[in-house]
Amino acid sequence: MKLKQLSKSTSLKGKRILVRVDWNVPLPANASSGKARKITRTIPFLRELQKRGATVLIMTHLGRPKGREMKYSTKGLARAVKAYTDLPVEYLNVDLSTSGGAKAFKTDVDTLKPKSIVCLENVRFQPGEVQNDAKLAKRYADAADLYINDAFASCHRAHASVVGIGKSVPTYAGPGLVAEVTALHKLLQKPRKPYYAFIGGAKLSTKLPVIEQLLKIADKVFIGGAMAHPFFVAQKYGVGKSLMEPDGVKIAKKLLKNKKIVVPTDVIVGPKIAAGVTVRRAAVNGVKKTERIGDIGTETVMEWVDELNHAETIVWNGPFGVTELPAFSHGSLVIAKALAIRSKGRPYVVVGGGDTLPVVAKTGMDDLYDFVSTGGGAMLEFISKKGKLPGFVPLLKK
Ligand code: 3PG
Repeated sequence: MKLKQLSKSTSLKGKRILVRVDWNVPLPANASSGKARKITRTIPFLRELQKRGATVLIMTHLGRPKGREMKYSTKGLARAVKAYTDLPVEYLNVDLSTSGGAKAFKTDVDTLKPKSIVCLENVRFQPGEVQNDAKLAKRYADAADLYINDAFASCHRAHASVVGIGKSVPTYAGPGLVAEVTALHKLLQKPRKPYYAFIGGAKLSTKLPVIEQLLKIADKVFIGGAMAHPFFVAQKYGVGKSLMEPDGVKIAKKLLKNKKIVVPTDVIVGPKIAAGVTVRRAAVNGVKKTERIGDIGTETVMEWVDELNHAETIVWNGPFGVTELPAFSHGSLVIAKALAIRSKGRPYVVVGGGDTLPVVAKTGMDDLYDFVSTGGGAMLEFISKKGKLPGFVPLLKK
């Protein structure tokens, strides 16, 4: 896939550039949580555009607001980014719901000081964003000279700010997006074998498309987290009071027929999933009716670490336990550290996913991975849809 990229020699002096980023980070943005990586990764490029003389108009969504829900305003986000990074970003309120609002937006942009960096109001506050309304996209485009998409994590959404604007203004892929596509392509095209995939998270049904695709291209698919519970039930083991997706068992029964699927052999359980509870290790056939599963077990961790030593390509998405609670975070943390140690060596290791990033950050070894993807749903869809995301369409070289 060849993406259009802005040439280093193109003059940007006086150009107004719309840059779609994905700064969808729950506030307050905690720099050490790992989720802030979505923001910090974009900073050098935004700085570069400013240095080259451009006025930078940052566009992002934040949350899933219903209309103008002010708790999702990017005003606080812009303030936080300014405070925690060296980006001199200001906030600009935008209302493109009327032609008057569109005119005001254009005037606001035209009167910005050259080389300003502004974060526009949440793109999801604009009616028509999610529906990819052509009029809305045109109203953005009319105020700018160029559009750059550096929001890989949003590229699975066919929204106006992702796919619509490129129809009326020159459009390019940003460096963060290009890096994601390059790194993730190596998981799809001629990956070195053996190829192991580690998939965690809560719901089996949401991860089913990616599991099905990985079963075609990988040699083993390891399943952890609450999405492993239906596999235990499918094997006729009890899961006590653990989280259970009703339709999961049917899916798990089918998947278990595939010998590439690997599920935990033991788990960490507690009387409830809460801080400070006493936990114990249990074999998967030894979970009591009163107990809840919160993590993969120590035996499983040892088996999986041993297994991953034989892999040449590894992808990991989704935690294997309730990683916000220390007692249930060890499985994910040990695997995360083992993957970091194995990276930049023989195997090619890519980790990613919204809930995986905080675990990666906790290892303190995040620079060791071959690639850390900021995509949550986008990373999963990239794999399941073989690299074809709607957000790439306007960026493709003809
Ligand atoms: C994400 O957090 O995965 C992206 O920012 C996309 O957010 P969305 O699922 O609300 O579209």
